[in-house]
Amino acid sequence: MESADVRSDIPILEEVIYLDAASTGPTPQPVVDAMCDYFYNYNTNTGRGAYSLAIKTTQKMQEARQKVAGFVNAPPEEIIFTKNTTEAINIVAHGLNWEKGDSILVPNIEHHSNFLPWLRLKEKGVNVKVIKADKNGIINPEQLVESIDDTTRLITITHVSNAFGSLQDIYEIGKIAEENESLYMIDAAQSVGHMETNVKKMKANFIAFPGHKGTLGPVGTGFLYCKYEDAEKLEVSDLGGGTVLDVDENNYQLESIPARFEGGTSNIAGYIGLGASVDYIQNIGLKKVEKHGLKLTKELYQGLSNVENVTCYGDPQNIYGIVSFNINNIHPHDVAKILDEVRKICVRSGHHCAIPSMKHMGVHELGGTVRASIHYYNTSEDIQALVETVEDIAKTFGV
Ligand SMILES: Cc1ncc(COP(=O)(O)O)c(C=O)c1O
Repeated sequence: MESADVRSDIPILEEVIYLDAASTGPTPQPVVDAMCDYFYNYNTNTGRGAYSLAIKTTQKMQEARQKVAGFVNAPPEEIIFTKNTTEAINIVAHGLNWEKGDSILVPNIEHHSNFLPWLRLKEKGVNVKVIKADKNGIINPEQLVESIDDTTRLITITHVSNAFGSLQDIYEIGKIAEENESLYMIDAAQSVGHMETNVKKMKANFIAFPGHKGTLGPVGTGFLYCKYEDAEKLEVSDLGGGTVLDVDENNYQLESIPARFEGGTSNIAGYIGLGASVDYIQNIGLKKVEKHGLKLTKELYQGLSNVENVTCYGDPQNIYGIVSFNINNIHPHDVAKILDEVRKICVRSGHHCAIPSMKHMGVHELGGTVRASIHYYNTSEDIQALVETVEDIAKTFGV
C-alpha cells in the first residue's frame, strides 16, 4: 500500500492537513469497518456466554490478541489489553512490590505518563533518581551507568520523546539493565506502528503501548507487554468479574495471565479494531512506514529550521517523526491557532504533557513549543504547506 492508498482510507485528510500523529492517529476505514461489524453483527460480551454470538465475540477477542502479539513478536499471554499507554505504565508502577530504599532511574525528558507514576512511589520510600538528558533531549547510556547502584530496581525510558522526537538508545540501555539485573520498562508510545517493534530484541520486562497512535487503532485502546514471570509477580489493582478462577467467602484464586489484569467488561470493539489496525500497518509494511517517516522528518526539520526567526529543537540526526519548534516572540498556542485558521493545519502546542522536559530544554517560559508530527499518510506537500505558513507567520509577527 502506498501513502496515497492510506490517505483515501482516512476521509478527514481531505479536510485538513493533519500533523498531529503523536497525539492520536486517525483511524482508517477498514479499522472502522471491523468495529462496525462487531456493533452490527455480534455485539455481545466476551468469555461469559454459552450462546454462539457470545462465543464468536470471545473468538474475535482472542484473534485480536494474537494479531497484536504477533505484531510485536510476543506470545499472546504476555499481552495485557489496557485503555491506553498510561494505564499500562500504572499497572506496573502499582503492581510491583516496592520496598523502602529501592530506586528507579527515570529520565527528565519523559511524558508525564512515564514520570508521575514513578514519582508518586516516593511516598513508599522509593528513591526516584531523575537522569538529565543532554541539550538535544538524549540520554547518554554511560550517564545511566553512573547512577546505578545496588538499590536500582527499575530503569525506565521512552523510546521516542513525544516532546522533541529524540530517539533513545533503548537497546544499549536494555543491556545495561540486564547487566545490573534491574527491571527494564520502555514507553513505546511514539515508536510503535512507526518502526519495527520486536519485544524479543528490546529485552525489556515491561513495554507500554498505545493502540491509538502509530498503529492507527481506535482511541481507548493500548496494551502492556509483560514477561510472564514478571506478570506473575505483579499485584492486580482492579479485581472483579473475569479476574478470578474461584472464590469463597474468605478467599479467591486469581485467573491466569492476562485475564487477571483485565477486570470487568473491556473495550471489545476497540480491541477488535486494534487487531484490524495492526493488520493494516503490516499490509503497508513497517520498513516502508519508517523510511517514509525518516524522509518526512528530515524535510520537516530542514524546512522549518531554514525559516528566519524559527528555532527547531533536538538533533536532526537523532529524531523520528516529531519536530518541535518556536517562532520568536509568538506563543506556541497562537502559532497553532493561526496554522489552523489560515490553512487548516493541525499541530499540537504547549507543554505536551512533558513539563520537566520543557524546563530542561529551556522552553517552559515560552509556553512550550509547537509540535508537528507525521505518519505514513503525510506527504511532502503537507510539510511544504506547514513550512510556507510558518514562514508567513514569522514574517508578519516574528521578531
Ligand atoms: C511518550 C508518551 N508516553 C505516554 C503517553 C500517554 O499515552 P496515552 O494517551 O495512550 O495514555 C503519550 C501520549 O502522548 C506519549 O507520547
